[in-house]
Amino acid sequence: MSDQQNGAVVGSKSFTAVAINCAAKAGEWIKTKLGNYENLDLKYSSHDLVTEVDKGSETLIKRLIQTHFPHHSFLGEEGVEPGPEASARALEAKLEDEYLWIVDPIDGTTNFVHGFPFFVVSIALAYRGEVIVGVVYDPMKDELFLAEKGKGAYVHGKRMSVSAESALKSSLVATGFPADHHYALPLNMKGLQAIAPQVRNIRSSGSAALHMAYVAAGRLSGFWEIGLNSWDLAAGALLIQESGGKVSDTLGKPYHLGVRNVVASNGQIHEELVGALALADAAQ
Ligand code: IPD
Ligand code: CA
Ligand code: CA
Repeated sequence: MSDQQNGAVVGSKSFTAVAINCAAKAGEWIKTKLGNYENLDLKYSSHDLVTEVDKGSETLIKRLIQTHFPHHSFLGEEGVEPGPEASARALEAKLEDEYLWIVDPIDGTTNFVHGFPFFVVSIALAYRGEVIVGVVYDPMKDELFLAEKGKGAYVHGKRMSVSAESALKSSLVATGFPADHHYALPLNMKGLQAIAPQVRNIRSSGSAALHMAYVAAGRLSGFWEIGLNSWDLAAGALLIQESGGKVSDTLGKPYHLGVRNVVASNGQIHEELVGALALADAAQ
């Protein structure tokens, strides 16, 4: 039975209100734990970190969502076995569900652990596989990026739009250094080698979701990375689409929840960025 039918939901606004509330509450709590976490564990590799704060944030968000929407599905990073195959399987199992919340309780855990103030809570709600609400919250700057499908994207109430650069040579582009050192990192390094001389400059600050939000806000012209998960990208993808930008896989095919190798941009530089990665044999 849908939530519309069982009367649990008044309208899409309540989805958004819950998403904002979850992100704000989790973000505030994470901030109190900065420099203050107790357990640091390794996941998929020695570069893939998790703390009790990641797990606590996910529990807090999951409980809040389940209180409001007990029939909705939930996919959170910390509830999934580490590694790309397990992540893909976990998404696949829930992709057809009517309402699916997709949560990264801390995107930028390495930054959180080192006290580098660039990490966020990322929360998306998908309806039958399509993202309809996306929230990325940066507790250190108290910046909340919000998008609703068809209704635009906002940062603290101000409508966002992507930047105006029309060529790589005038673009500021971000990427990441993935934790998977077998497949994703070498491929991304190949891309970095090719893209760096072609753009104004490169940034890599350690949170894919916040890089995506910055593309939406026009602070970055574009972003690409190999080997990400649905929870890194779902909220940020809607932010960019609703800000007039473009999101695809690294081959240029349209974004969907299963995309792991992403190119996100202001739209104008998209083809050039996808083309440059292809030419460098760094797309997949
Ligand atoms: C990571 C961050 C990082 C990216 C990694 C992600 P996590 O997420 O988004 O920027 O380079 O590939 O796994 O582990 O901090 O949630
Ligand atoms: Ca992440
Ligand atoms: Ca995470």
